[in-house]
Formats: sequence, C-alpha cells, structure tokens
Amino acid sequence: MEGVCMARSILFAAGEGLPFVKTGGLADVIGSLPKSLAKRGHDVRVVLPLYKKIIDKYYNQLERIGTIQVHSGWIDQPATFYKTEVDGVVYYFIEHQHYFERDALYGYNDDGERFAFFQRALLDMIYFIDWWPNIIHENDWQTGMVPLMAKACYQGDVRYQAIKHVYTIHNLAFQGNFGVEMLQSCLGLDYYYFDNGSIKFDNGISFMKTGIVFADKITTVSPTYANEILTDYYGERMNAILRYRRDDLWGIVNGIDTVAWDPKKDKHLVKNFDVKNVAAGKAANKAALQAELGLKVDKDVCVIGIVSRLTNQKGVYLITSRLREIMDLDVQFVVLGTGETAAEDAFKWMESEYKGRAVYYSGYNEELAHRIYAGVDLFLMPSLYEPCGIGQLIAMHYGSLPLVRETGGLKDTVQPFNEYTGEGNGFSFYAENADDMLHTLQYALKQYYTNKAGWKGLVKAAMTRDVSWEASSNVYEELYYQLCNWSDN
Ligand code: ADP
Ligand code: GLC
Repeated sequence: MEGVCMARSILFAAGEGLPFVKTGGLADVIGSLPKSLAKRGHDVRVVLPLYKKIIDKYYNQLERIGTIQVHSGWIDQPATFYKTEVDGVVYYFIEHQHYFERDALYGYNDDGERFAFFQRALLDMIYFIDWWPNIIHENDWQTGMVPLMAKACYQGDVRYQAIKHVYTIHNLAFQGNFGVEMLQSCLGLDYYYFDNGSIKFDNGISFMKTGIVFADKITTVSPTYANEILTDYYGERMNAILRYRRDDLWGIVNGIDTVAWDPKKDKHLVKNFDVKNVAAGKAANKAALQAELGLKVDKDVCVIGIVSRLTNQKGVYLITSRLREIMDLDVQFVVLGTGETAAEDAFKWMESEYKGRAVYYSGYNEELAHRIYAGVDLFLMPSLYEPCGIGQLIAMHYGSLPLVRETGGLKDTVQPFNEYTGEGNGFSFYAENADDMLHTLQYALKQYYTNKAGWKGLVKAAMTRDVSWEASSNVYEELYYQLCNWSDN
C-alpha cells in the first residue's frame, strides 16, 4: 500500500476561503487545495463562518441544515448550519448573526469569543450532521483550539477521539493571543491546560500555540519557512515550541487554482495567451493596462507591478524608501493594495509626483489584479518574511517575472536568473536592504532592455513552472497516509 492513499474524509476548518470570502492567500489555499484533494477521490469538506459578505452574495445558494444550541463555557447560544457544494467540495457555514455579520472578518475586540464559538460549533456540527471525518485540517489561529477542544470537550465520545488533526501555519505572526479568562468563559476548558503551560503564552492563552502543541501533525506552507520558524529571528517567540515538535512539522509549498488563474481563458484580459504567444499576449494586456490606469501607452517601457497588502511583512518600506531612485529608472510602476498609512501615503505621493508613469490603486480589486498580473513585466515582492506567497506564483503563471527577497516560499519558488547558464525564472536578493533590492532591480532592467533572449527564456521558464496543486497534493496525501496509517483497512 506504500504511497497509495485510500479515499478518506477530511474537514478543512478556516477563517476564510474562496470562492466565498477572501482577505489574503489563506482564502486562495482553502479555495483550491480541497478541490485538488477531492478530485483524487477523497471526501473533502470545508467549514467557514457565515460572514455578512457571504450572505450578501451567496445566501440564495445555501441550503439550511439545522440549528443547535452550542454550549461552550458560559456561552450558550444557537448556531445555524448551512451548506452548498462547489466543484466536488461541500462547504458548511456557521451562522451567528452577532459574531459574523460584520463588515470585516477579523480585527474586533471580541475575536477570541467569536472564534471560540466558531470552533466549538464546528465540532458540534460533526455530531449534528453525523459525518465523522478521519482528519480535521485546521488553518491558522482562528482554528488553532480545535485539536485540544476535540480531545478535551468530548472525552466520552470515541468518534471524536479517533479524529486526527493537521494544523497548518499560514502566518506565524498572527497568533490569536487572548486573556486567560477566555478559558472558562468561552472555551469551556479547564485551567489545567494553562497551569501546565501547554496553551499558556505571555500569561494569557494562544490559539496558535495550542494548535502547535495539540495537533498530530503541523505543516506550514513552504520548506524554507518551516526551517525559518525554528529560529529566533523568524520564530515569533513560538520557535521553542516548534522546535519541540519539529519531527511532526512539514513544509509543503502552496499551489494556485490554475482554473481561476489561467491566462489562456481569463475573462478579465483583453487578450488571452499561453507560453506560445506570450509576447503578443503580454503586449496587448500591457497596452490595455496602461490605458486603463492613465499611464503613457508605451510598449517598450518595463512595467513593474505590486498586488499586495501594504504592510511591513511585504517589504513595502524597502520600496517606499527608494521610490525616487526607482522612478529615476526607465520604468512605469503600478501598485494595487491597501495597508499601513505610511505605505499608502508614500504610494499616493509617487502617483502625484510621477503622473503618467506611476499609479496607485488603493483598494481590493480582484479583476484589476488579474489585469496587473497579465500586463506587467516585473512583479515586485521583496517580503521581509513570506510563509509561501501566492502573488509570485500567479505572476509567474502570467509571464511576469518575480523580483523577490530570498525568504520562505519566495526562496522555494523563485530561481534567480543565472546569466551564464540562462537558468532561472525571476530575480532575487538576500539581505533585508533597500539598496540590494534597488541593485537587483537595476540588474533586472538591464536584462529587460539589453538581453531580450535571456528575458524570453526567463518568461518561458516562469510560465512553464508547475504552480498547480498536483505535486503538493501528493505530499498532503502522504502526510494523511502516515497519520492515519491508511493501509490499516
Ligand atoms: P498574504 O496572504 O500574506 O496577503 P499571498 O501572496 O499569499 O499574501 O496572497 C495574497 C493574495 O491576495 C493573492 O491572491 C493576491 O493576488 C491577493 N491580493 C492582495 N491584495 C489584493 C488587492 N488589493 N486586490 C486584489 N487582490 C489582492
Ligand atoms: C499567509 C502568508 C502567505 C501565504 C498564505 C497562504 O497569508 O502570509 O505567505 O501564501 O498565507 O498560505
């Protein structure tokens, strides 16, 4: 049976997921990995909170399956369950008007209480629908308490005890740390777990740490990040506990949804293309993007693009500290994103200072993102840390060369150009240093303007890199296989 996975049932639990709701790469993963596993014959389901955004757009498509009373600590409130099916994956939604029908997904003072409820309700839901997954696959702090709650709150039920738990860290910096009073009030857990240190963090409790301690296996979204988070520098003060569990920690790189992101069929583009007609395809999309955004239409100029949260993580201050130097080069610059005020202000200044050559679109815009990925030549992502990164994968798939810092998933997915062998699919630099980034940009521009054949080779390598879930789904299957000892039955 070695390597051959029998079909199994897996429940993905997460705070967001496409096609329903997205704030970042986690939603991309939840919208595509389950689909890829379902295609391989597994019974894969996903559970999400029923946010206002989902109700506004999808309510008519949801089937109501029932209401139960959820008891969690002092919380005693109803949860209503809904479901729908997309591409072979069943999606469940947990409704609680007060907790989830708000404008944003996270960032509220009562986030601990909201997601304590979500986690307890999803565990109760399993009993209610009488579907017992072999594995619950939890993602990030919003679902980090599930492994412990399943063990501690349902001790008498062997069906809960039989479930295995895989906990995936998408971003170690967001930890879900709350006051200890949450334990009894919202989670219904004994102080024992706090007193023995297993969930204690800074005198409070940490959902992230709990996931790391109690899951059967832990994964993160690239091999390099899996190593980085064991160090003081990247470990976000969780590195000691991660080192303790390192034998169970796997780094598995993300893929992208190659149906939703397909330059051959993308409805948002003026011209579809693949690797065979990439030059013509990119030229048409570049011209359309320039016209749409009020940039000078110029087929020859190198257009640099960013589609990102504008936060320190993404290395935006390496960029904003060198905006003048960047704009002194022969480039146009397109930035799409929202984030920290200082970064937004810098890009607003750039747009006003370099009219016709630079544009900043402040906001979240899925369609424009597609057109930027297709229309730019270089995709800038100099992150200070990057667990995986989805942006650079999409960029490569659309023939835009990534320029990245060598960290986490960026290091694992972008191979820097080697001008002697012609190998590579992008450009990269190592030090967290704005001048190193600038020099790498200058080097990339030199290739763009003076080494057309080299550039063409890079674009071809980028577009033909396998960014689908195929390879990584194999690894997840292998992980599930090891965990559940598939060959047992
Ligand atoms: P993170 O999850 O850390 O923000 P990723 O690179 O993993 O970074 O994923 C970001 C995802 O969000 C990508 O799919 C990217 O295209 C998308 N995205 C980020 N900002 C915007 C925006 N302003 N408009 C549209 N899509 C965006
Ligand atoms: C997080 C990380 C990003 C990763 C995404 C999906 O948002 O910041 O690097 O790609 O999760 O795993």
